[in-house]
Formats: sequence, C-alpha cells, structure tokens
Amino acid sequence: MKVSNKDVVLSGGFGTSSNSARAGYLPICLERVPLEAFKEISVYLRADEKTKDTETFRLYCSPNVRFTQGHRERLIAHGVKFVYIAMADQARFRQQTEDTLLLTVDDPSLSISVKSEIVYETSVELVNELLSEPDFASKSTRLEKVSRAVTTLVLNDPSAFSHLFAASHHDFYTATHMVNVATWMVPLAYAMGYHNTEDLNHICEAGLLHDVGKVYIPAEVLNKKGKLTNEEWDLIRQHPEMGCKHLEKFDRIDPLVLTVTRQHHERIDGSGYPHKIKGEQMHPVSKICAVVDSFDAMTAFRPFKDRTMTVAQALSIIMEETPTKYDEAVVEKWVGLLQSAEREGVLSEPVMLADGKNHREFPRFPINCPARAHILQKDGDEWIERPGIQVIAHNISRSGAGFVAQQQVQPGETVRLYLQGHGSLSRVDEGLVMRCRAYKDGWFEVGLKFAAMKEIEGTDIDTKAA
Ligand SMILES: [Fe+2]
Repeated sequence: MKVSNKDVVLSGGFGTSSNSARAGYLPICLERVPLEAFKEISVYLRADEKTKDTETFRLYCSPNVRFTQGHRERLIAHGVKFVYIAMADQARFRQQTEDTLLLTVDDPSLSISVKSEIVYETSVELVNELLSEPDFASKSTRLEKVSRAVTTLVLNDPSAFSHLFAASHHDFYTATHMVNVATWMVPLAYAMGYHNTEDLNHICEAGLLHDVGKVYIPAEVLNKKGKLTNEEWDLIRQHPEMGCKHLEKFDRIDPLVLTVTRQHHERIDGSGYPHKIKGEQMHPVSKICAVVDSFDAMTAFRPFKDRTMTVAQALSIIMEETPTKYDEAVVEKWVGLLQSAEREGVLSEPVMLADGKNHREFPRFPINCPARAHILQKDGDEWIERPGIQVIAHNISRSGAGFVAQQQVQPGETVRLYLQGHGSLSRVDEGLVMRCRAYKDGWFEVGLKFAAMKEIEGTDIDTKAA
C-alpha cells in the first residue's frame, strides 16, 4: 500500500510528478503503461534527460506511427524511463487505456504487478469522474468494462489480490476507498466460493459504487477532525440510503449493487446502520463488503485522524468484533488473503501483531448483562474505587470483556467491573481498558483485558446472545 501522490493521479496515473506538466507534456512511465493507449497519439522524449532545467521535448513517434513493444524495449535498454504525451492528448490517452483494459489484462508481455497497477489506477480515474459527475447512465458501460478487467485479473492469476493490494493507495480520497473495496471484494468473494464471472463483475460494481451516496454529504462533515455532532452523524448514516436512491434512478443497475450499497454499514448483531438489520437479513456479499470497508477505513491515512492503524491492529479489532458484528468465515478468508500477500512479499508490514495476539486465545460469549464499572486509582499501595457508572456488558471471555457505557473511559485505565447475574451480584472482574470508541447515540464501546485469567464456568451470567 502506498499513500498516493496527487501529481501522479493528475498525470493520468502512469506518470510521475514533474515540471514537464507545466511545459505542456505529461510523463508516462514506460514500464507501467499499456501500448494500446498510445494509439494515434504523438509520443515525445525529453530533449535532455540529464538537465533538469531544460524542458524541451522532441517528437519520437507521430500519431500515424504505432508505438510498439520494440520501441519500448529499445528505449528502456537506453536507460529511458519516461516518454511524454501532449497535455491535449491526456483525455484520449486515459480513454484508450480504459477501452483496452481487457487487452492489457491478457497481455503476456506485462507482469501481474504492472497489470494490477494499470487496472487500479484506471478504476480510480473512473470513480473520480463518477464522484464529480455522478451520472451513472453515461458511465455504466465503462464501469462494467473496469469490473470485467478486475474479475479477469482475479480469475487468471491466484496472486492478483496481493498485487492489487500492493497497488492500492491508502489515502483519504473517497474514490480510492471505493476502488480498494472493489478490488479487494472480488478476490475475497472468489475465496468465499463466488466463481461465476457475472457474479464477480456485479460484486466489483457494488464495491465501485457502494459509497456513491457520500456525494450528498458535505466534505467538511466527511473530513471533520474531532467528534461529530449528533446531526452530523445522522447525515453520515444516510449515505447508504442516499446512494441507493441515487442509483435506483438508472436502468442498468444490478439489484446486488443496490443491496450492497444499502447494507454495507449493517452489522450481524444489528448494531449497524441505517436499518439495523441482523444476521441472515444481511446479504452474504454485504457481509464481505462490511469487512473490507471497515478494514480500509481503519488503515487509511486521514489528515483529520489522530493515527492510522496498521494492518495487524485493524485485523485485531475486526477479529475482536467477530462473530458479533462480522461474519466469521469472511474474516477468516480475509486474514488468509492478507497472509498470502505477506508470504509473496508485497505487504510491507506484518499481518500479525508482534505477540501473535490478533487471534483471540479464548472463546468469547455474547452476553447482555447489566454491570457497574468503577475506575480504580492508585493511592500509595492501595487501589481506590471511584464512583461507578452503569454499563451493559455485551461479551465476555476468559481474557476480557466488552461493555458499552454512556461515559468515556481512557485506554490504560484500570476498571473494576461488577457483573450482575440473575438477581444478585455474581461476579467481579478487574482489567485494563484496551480501547474506548464512540459507539452510537452518545454511548461508548469499551474493550477490557482482565488483569488475571478468570474462569467463567459455573457463573450464572446469562450467556444468551444479546
Ligand atoms: Fe460507506
């Protein structure tokens, strides 16, 4: 993964940042471009590759001379890394890259890594266009074409996920998020048993469109640093339904795309939004989307977020919330794909935490149990119990518990938790607050790690699902 360079995006996704753009020419990386895209476009070389101040260009191929693999190989052999096209040809170059995407995916002269980059960048360009002008009717054929390219790439090469993952930008742009979700959903759906090409095409389209409703949300709310107000949260929660309503206006939308757009923020325990549906009410593809959507949201670099999670930290949280919120089989396959990317050397960070604790050591039981939580303060050698707050514990294992509270507690604080069983106080646990996140309607969700291992057998805690 890499944080995108805005200059690269502006120059068509295949170039590099350069003064050449100001001189009216766009640099195109010779190793990362489909030859078909140069059709009837003049190709230039920089007159003096070594003199940075000299921005003069000479014609290498006129529009009626086809730029071939032979040209490319000769230039690369002479140490040339970039050719240039006139700025005026940029739109045509992009269009031809998109039109010939399927040929690119089948081109034996390109590596899987280069193909993945071309497919990824072309998808980002298209989704960027879609977000600035969300007229789906004029773009449906183009979306289908891009989706077919992603599907073909995944069906043709078992390592496609790793290379698509490596090609992905990890920034705060909605377009890159939608492309990340789409290009990760297809291999994940394939791993989950979706092998039919048409199904996979629709799954890709669902990923490319799932957040289109965000065009109706002001950027200052989407990018706000700090806590959202209740009104702002209400607005955010409307984007799945707004996206759906927007897409329903067009004829050629597959029903699966609408379902995933509507359901991608729902959770298995009914804690999601907008409709709080549960379990099997969620479409299996929505469950796939929910995992990769959350993963990308957690690991994306955002200037308005205090910190960006690593792959291992994000996985750790997703696993903690499985099977409560996420589908266990989907999460298992997702971890497997990330581990395969790690084995293939395209992932620059470990999938597992250093202590190997992403995976829960002990089974966790969903509960719905009133409890009181007291923060403990050290006073000399003694721990003093501060006044307690009423909370609701929603899961428990030998190693920890999760509860929701109407008051924020700080990670690192020690909490004594009095869990109520049937009719009487039946259990006391103490532990360290590992995380505290805004939940919903002013509630906070807290993860507690017990200071000592506890046995839960023999208690009368209600272990029925909440
Ligand atoms: Fe979303």
